[in-house]
Amino acid sequence: MMPPKSMQAEIETTMSASDQTRRTLLVNALATAAGLATVEAAAAADDEQPGSDERPMKGDVLVFSEGEHEGKVITPQDLPLGGPPVHAWPKDPKTAVIRSGSRLNELLLIRLDPTELDDDTRARAVEGIVAYSAICTHAGCPVTGWIPGSAGDKDVLKCFCHNSEFDPRDGAQVVFGPAPRRLAALALSIVDGALKVAAPFVGKLGGQQGG
Ligand code: FES
Repeated sequence: MMPPKSMQAEIETTMSASDQTRRTLLVNALATAAGLATVEAAAAADDEQPGSDERPMKGDVLVFSEGEHEGKVITPQDLPLGGPPVHAWPKDPKTAVIRSGSRLNELLLIRLDPTELDDDTRARAVEGIVAYSAICTHAGCPVTGWIPGSAGDKDVLKCFCHNSEFDPRDGAQVVFGPAPRRLAALALSIVDGALKVAAPFVGKLGGQQGG
């Protein structure tokens, strides 16, 4: 038996409203998916920039990797004497590609009194500024601390994962904790007022478990 006319109209209205809602939901879902796809594509494009995961090369400039100046080229004046370290990425000045495609490329830059540096460290430094890998050689955590060392009163680079400490005046050799070897070091130069990479990394990068 057919429902009365008024009820039929109500059912049609309800169905039509529910169809509308379904359509709206579908359109919204498609729009969201499209938006996400765009964001993911943009992120992938960033990651896939040729050279972004290549190791620092001679002539690369250095840019802030975090903070309000992220992406800005670092000059010696940006580094206070005695630290704290500035976190940086190398950047190819020809292609403008920042080499942030590999976390093993993140660097710590510190300006120290040149008379405190040992001979090898001074040879790699410029105006007392030294550069090291920011990745701990123990298990690959980021090295984030700059605090008085456990064995003395001088500030050292510290990895808080398992408390390894590295002395940047002495080639970032391990002075405390379980890290098996020093941080990889990078020689620097100054060209046209900007800090530049002078040579590839010296030493093995990353943690002993592959970090
Ligand atoms: S990862 Fe740095 S001390 Fe273990």
